[in-house]
Amino acid sequence: MPTVYLETYGCQMNVADSELILGKLAAAGYSHTENPEGADVILVNTCAVRENAEQRVLGRLGDLKGHMHRDTVLGVTGCMAQRLGPRLLDSNSRVSLVVGPDAYRALPELIEAARKGERTVATDFDLEEHYDDFQARRFEGVKAWIPVQRGCDYRCTYCIVPYTRGAERSRGLDDVVRETREVVAQGLAEVILLGQTVNSWNDGTRDFGALLRAVGAVEGIRRVRFTSPHPNDFTDSVIAAMAEVPTVCEHVHLPVQSGSNAMLKRMLRRYTREGYFDCVARLRAAIAGVSITTDIIVGFPGETDAEFDDTLSLVREVGFDDAFTFKFSPREGTPATRMPAELTVPSDVVDARYTELLALVRSIARGRNMARLGERREVLVEKAARRGGELLQARSRDFRTVMVPSDAASIGDYLMVELTGTTGSTFTGTPVAERAHLPTAGQAAN
Ligand code: 5AD
Ligand code: SF4
Repeated sequence: MPTVYLETYGCQMNVADSELILGKLAAAGYSHTENPEGADVILVNTCAVRENAEQRVLGRLGDLKGHMHRDTVLGVTGCMAQRLGPRLLDSNSRVSLVVGPDAYRALPELIEAARKGERTVATDFDLEEHYDDFQARRFEGVKAWIPVQRGCDYRCTYCIVPYTRGAERSRGLDDVVRETREVVAQGLAEVILLGQTVNSWNDGTRDFGALLRAVGAVEGIRRVRFTSPHPNDFTDSVIAAMAEVPTVCEHVHLPVQSGSNAMLKRMLRRYTREGYFDCVARLRAAIAGVSITTDIIVGFPGETDAEFDDTLSLVREVGFDDAFTFKFSPREGTPATRMPAELTVPSDVVDARYTELLALVRSIARGRNMARLGERREVLVEKAARRGGELLQARSRDFRTVMVPSDAASIGDYLMVELTGTTGSTFTGTPVAERAHLPTAGQAAN
């Protein structure tokens, strides 16, 4: 059997796509290997959202050449493949396949052709494509990523995604429910529904609230999460579904990007600071104990000191449980790159703002976490802790990372723990005798 080695960069959608790719290739007779050395096919599933993500991949392509034998096929998939297309073939003589996010169905044939010496670029969009019939090969043992939407119809001016993943399309509700049933039957009781603006999901008659109710009611499901939503798509119907379906977890990752109205306008985010506060207030009013995390960009063109201060004050006012912070990275072809050059924020200013924002985010998260010491949480034991020892890494419904003393046999178990310590970002927890409560699908209000 020919072997395939695959590396994944970027977001969870890419992780899910990698599982689909490996499933498709397994069906075509390839066996998966965790070692690039001597593999017949090496694929790198890439991200284009920031320049440094691309630089890492280009460096890695160089390293991988060292593992290739004469006939190894090296392919690039994902957003960088879509963005650069033939340019990747021109700049990397050993790359023989460049395949964008809508073209994975053809991978077995494209690889066959590459093994015969052809070099191909497959980057056509296919607005019907959801890979519904692929059997994802899942590696995460306790939870399942389920794409429910592909592409993006927003046009945030910094973002490359609409260009690399094409127009938004929603996958059929029945297919999502069928896949949820399959993963539950395989013993995975947590699903994460994925989409670029996942809560804009709709099938023409039903909205994301209906999808949450349908998935949340699958027998045996225990946790439903989704990422990433857009603030404007949190309708009352979606929030009501989150509040009423017991399996939907109390966590929302709600990217804000900036706290300044002028910046939000230049970013074409389509909401205001006040609108974002309102969304947070509605979520908090409806869902007891909901934790809220976010994404923030610093140094977007034209960002003044006052505008950056608005971001700091928003972060304080919302009190995020955690935040990912990014330095603006200009992406070729996006509207942000056509803004006047004098709007570019000098890199020393970006660095200073980034440091200040990160310190604020961390201190707020620490304060919120300290306040939770002594509370109890149901956690899902996910994997061995990176720092080893006897600790395992577990996750609460409200998305807190909890280290629990246990052995590998408990991976996949749901435990009740008391939060006994925190580093400021993660917790240590002690198992308590109380039984973890079981939300039953039957309770889901319809
Ligand atoms: N530069 C910096 N950060 C970006 N993001 C998206 N595009 C860019 C860019 N050009 C960030 C946003 C988004 C997250 C996934 O990546 O914060 O929410
Ligand atoms: Fe990018 Fe904006 Fe679409 Fe998110 S909503 S993927 S940030 S264009």
